[in-house]
Amino acid sequence: MTTSTHTQPADATRLIIFDTTLRDGEQSPGASMTQEEKIRIARQLERLGVDVIEAGFAAASVGDFEAISAIAHAIKHSTVCSLARANEKDIRRAGEAIQHAAKGRVHTFIATSPIHMQYKLRMSEDQVVEAAVKAVKIALEYTDDVEFSAEDASRSEMDFLVRIFDAVIQAGVKTINVPDTVGYSTPEQWGERFAMLLQRVSNAQSVVWSTHCHNDLGLAVANTLAAVQHGARQVECTINGLGERAGNAALEEIVMATRVRKDLFNITTGIRSEEILPTSRLVSTITGYSVQPNKAIVGANAFAHESGIHQDGVLKHRETYEIMRAEDVGWKTNKLTLGKLSGRAAFRARLDDLGIQIETDEALNELFARFKILADRKSEIFDEDLHALVSGHHSGHIPKRFILNAFEVTSKMGQKPIAHLQLGIDGQEQTVTAEGSGPVDAAFKAIEALAQSGAQLELYQVNAVTSGTDSQGEVAVRLNLNGRIVTGQGADTDVMVASVMAYLDALNWLQTAGKANPQTDEVM
Ligand code: KIV
Ligand code: ZN
Repeated sequence: MTTSTHTQPADATRLIIFDTTLRDGEQSPGASMTQEEKIRIARQLERLGVDVIEAGFAAASVGDFEAISAIAHAIKHSTVCSLARANEKDIRRAGEAIQHAAKGRVHTFIATSPIHMQYKLRMSEDQVVEAAVKAVKIALEYTDDVEFSAEDASRSEMDFLVRIFDAVIQAGVKTINVPDTVGYSTPEQWGERFAMLLQRVSNAQSVVWSTHCHNDLGLAVANTLAAVQHGARQVECTINGLGERAGNAALEEIVMATRVRKDLFNITTGIRSEEILPTSRLVSTITGYSVQPNKAIVGANAFAHESGIHQDGVLKHRETYEIMRAEDVGWKTNKLTLGKLSGRAAFRARLDDLGIQIETDEALNELFARFKILADRKSEIFDEDLHALVSGHHSGHIPKRFILNAFEVTSKMGQKPIAHLQLGIDGQEQTVTAEGSGPVDAAFKAIEALAQSGAQLELYQVNAVTSGTDSQGEVAVRLNLNGRIVTGQGADTDVMVASVMAYLDALNWLQTAGKANPQTDEVM
C-alpha cells in the first residue's frame, strides 16, 4: 500500500498543482505518447515542482498500465496518480499500477449529471452513489490517498452533488474534484458552486477541494481561478492547456496568475517557475502540438514588445509594460550547451541534467553519433537541439517498416518540384519519383506512392528548434488511418529531410501499438 503525503487540507495558503498532461492532455487527437516520452515528461514535471502527476488511465490499455508503473518507479517527489472509472476492475488496475510509487494516488470518477446518468451510464442516483462509495473503499486497499471526481459536475444537480460528496467523504476520500467536463460554466457560477459545496457538504474541511476545467468557451483558467478564490486548494491543469477538444486549464497561466496577483489570491505553489518554458517546449516537441505565438506566458510573443511606445517604456522602466519577468518563467537567451569538440561524457552528463535517461550503451552511442553529425553542421548545440535529437531518436525502439535511404528534391521557380526517393520497405529497396505543387507535396506524394498507406495527412508543422538560420527544423506530421491518429517527428538542419523523416516516423508508428490512444483504442 502506498501512502499519501499530500498537503493537509488545513494548509489554506498552499495550492496543490495536479498536472494531467499525461492523461487528459494525451486525449488530444494524435498526442498519444510512448512510455519513454511519458517518462521524460514526468521527470520534467517533477523538476517543475508539480505536486501530483496524473500519469494515465491504467485500465485503458496494457501500454498505459506499464507507463504508469514505470513513472511510479521513476518519480520520487511528486505523487503519481492513475485515473480509474468507479468499477472494481479499473480501481484494481490503477492500484496495481501505482503500487511502487513513493507517493501514489488513485483517482476515481463517475458521472453525476442527469444527462450522463440517464443516457451514458443508465444508472439511477442511488446506483451512482453506491458505485462511487464502493470504488473509494476498494481504492483505499491500495493507498490512503484517494481522489473522487463527479464527472460533468457543472451540469449536475447541487443536491445530488452534496449527497454523493457526503457519501465519499464518509468512505474516506482525501480529495474531491469538481470538474467542468464540457467547459460550460462561467467564472461567477463556478465560484458560487464551490462556495455552496464548501458550505453544504458535511465535513467539507476534512478534504482538499479540487477544480478541473475544460476550455470549450475559453474560460478554463478564469473558472479555475474563481474556484480558488472560493476555497479550491487543488487545481487540475495541463502544460500549454493541452487536452480534449479545446483543452484543459493551462498550468503556466494559473501558476503565474496566482503569483503575479498574490494580492488577490494570497496563495503559494511549489512550482519552480523558471522550469515553465522548458516544460512547455518539451510537451510541444513530444506531442507535435505547437504553442500559438500570442499564448500567455509560453508563446513566442508573450514578452515581445513591438510598438515603439512600449519599447521606449520598457527600456526606461521595465514595469511600465511588464507585469512579470520573462526570465522568471524560463525565457533566457538560449543556453549554449555543447559544441563539436564535446565528448561522450559531456554529452551524457548534459542529457542527465535534462532528465533524459538513455537506457543502453548502444542507444547512447547511436545518439552520440547523430549529435556529432549535427555538431558538424551547426556550431552551437543548445538544450532544445538535444531534446529534438532525442525525440527524433525515440522511435528507434520500434520496428521500422519504412527506412529512408536517399532523398533529393529539385525545386525551380516556375516549375513543378520533383522528389526522388529511395526507401527500404520491409528490407527491400524501392525507388520512386513524384512531382507536387511544392517540394513538401512532392516528397509526401513520393512516400505515399511507395507506402500506399492510404492515411490522411491531418497536420504538417515546422518549427525552428532554436533561433538562427542554421537552426534544426523540427517537423510534426499527423496521420489519420481509419480513425487511428498518430504524430511522427523529424528534426534536421535540412527541413525537407526532417519532413520526410517525420512522415516516415508517423507511418512506422501506424504499424505498431506503441502510440495507441488509450481513450479511443482499447477502453471498452
Ligand atoms: O473532464 C473530466 O471530467 C475528467 C474527469 C475524468 C476528471 O477528465
Ligand atoms: Zn477532463
